[in-house]
Amino acid sequence: MKVILIGFMGSGKTSVGTALSKKLSLPLIDLDLFLEEKTGRKIKDIFKEDGEAAFRSFETASLKEVLETEKDFVLSTGGGVVVREENGLLLEKEPLVIYLKASPDTILKRLQTDEERPLLFGSDKKERIRTLLADRLSAYTSFSKFQIETDGKTVEEIAEECISYL
Ligand code: S3P
Repeated sequence: MKVILIGFMGSGKTSVGTALSKKLSLPLIDLDLFLEEKTGRKIKDIFKEDGEAAFRSFETASLKEVLETEKDFVLSTGGGVVVREENGLLLEKEPLVIYLKASPDTILKRLQTDEERPLLFGSDKKERIRTLLADRLSAYTSFSKFQIETDGKTVEEIAEECISYL
């Protein structure tokens, strides 16, 4: 079984993915970590040294590799995995893609002090979250089969809701 979590940065993909992998006894693959292990570089450094386009190419290659070579897993993706049409087409073919929805306020609360996400560097984090989320909203919806509202819910509740769809 291939369970794939998509959603904006800070929407809980990694923590829900961890809970889900335990409940389902499936390995957890974190696409960002997979990419960092493959390249031997931190995402922050790839963005800084080579730019977003280079990062997106590594992300697409990683997504392809996981989907082609692994059979059973819970995959926690990076929030921008839907940005490339090519990735979207791969995701669309998968039956268990779950979009974890979170409001800009929730995301801001979770990422207020974060220093790991290059796309949120800069002064007006709230505005950046709003804009990026608005840009990506339709992709998250159209590339997923199920959507879960996560605001105000615990990781445990969200994981259980995911399981109810499987
Ligand atoms: C990104 C999200 C990050 C990471 C990179 C780019 C994005 O992953 O892939 O910083 O474009 O939204 P998380 O969603 O796990 O933070």
